[in-house]
Amino acid sequence: MDLLACFIAGMPKAELHLHIEGTLEPELMILIGKRNGVSLPYPDGEAARKAYNFTDLQSFLDIYYRATSVLITEEDFYDLTIAYLRKAASQHVRHTEIFFDPQSHTARGIAFETVIRGIERALEEANSSLNISTKLIMCILRHLSEQEGLEIFEKALPWKRWIAGIGLDSSERDNPPEKFRKLFERAHQEGFLTVAHAGEEGSAASVRNALDILHISRIDHGVHCMEDEALIDELVRRQIPLTVCPLSNVRLRVFKSMKEHNLKNMLRKGLCVTINSDDPAYFGGYINENYIEAANALDLDRNDIIRLAQNSFVASSISTVHKEFYLKEIDRYIEQESY
Ligand code: ADE
Ligand code: ZN
Repeated sequence: MDLLACFIAGMPKAELHLHIEGTLEPELMILIGKRNGVSLPYPDGEAARKAYNFTDLQSFLDIYYRATSVLITEEDFYDLTIAYLRKAASQHVRHTEIFFDPQSHTARGIAFETVIRGIERALEEANSSLNISTKLIMCILRHLSEQEGLEIFEKALPWKRWIAGIGLDSSERDNPPEKFRKLFERAHQEGFLTVAHAGEEGSAASVRNALDILHISRIDHGVHCMEDEALIDELVRRQIPLTVCPLSNVRLRVFKSMKEHNLKNMLRKGLCVTINSDDPAYFGGYINENYIEAANALDLDRNDIIRLAQNSFVASSISTVHKEFYLKEIDRYIEQESY
């Protein structure tokens, strides 16, 4: 590993855009599939990896939803979540805000309770044994109706103590933020943190509407905000965080190559950008690989890396005291590192 990669690897950081179903590594998928008698179109993990050739978001989502069909028991959700948390802790992730997609499980007849109990058991274990803090964000699938979203929202309320936020994911095309106005009103009434995927494949208008109509406090992806100067000014002024996922954007062809990614331009504009892994089992890397590949392709320097790590805590939904605690950890790390 070169010096920059070492500096990145040891840096304390937060991850704010991570779909737990997107951490299902092919080998674990095959193992759980066999355990549950669910057949898959791949003989082994290697064959699955080879089939992960995406042309856009939808071609990825088709494969991703199919893979999640192996997840059936509470144990499966625990195994999935603890595997991600071990990996994240090994990459010096100190705090993570994890998305889950309950509708992709309840639609297959899996009880909401099974999903959330399995995930929560892993989170509790990680909080005490892996020295990592966590929050859970329940995502609503935007390709389904708002009514279906409202139904899962109401079903989740008895588990509110374990859910910090409500998000919006899946196919952005033809499913604009305004489709979920009522649902996000309910989320605000119930006091949840609210976030939404916007401006991934969609335009700057999608980011604008997520802000103005859904009143969310953080944008997931948001890279297309760069098409609208007035929007950029507002995002900078309000320091609305944008959780960017570089490897995902290249694998889903939002950008042709990492060199063409606009992350550095976003940083230079003063946007509160963070780096995240989205669906690491599918896109070729966890958070450190995202930092390292972006840094190499875009020539990011030491200060950019520090800023990105600081942003990740500032943009998180933890308390001010908790943020200061982690920001001090970064200060101590950079004092002791020679890079
Ligand atoms: N679900 C999982 N990954 C996603 C992404 N990158 N965009 C939208 N929905 C998703
Ligand atoms: Zn995502």
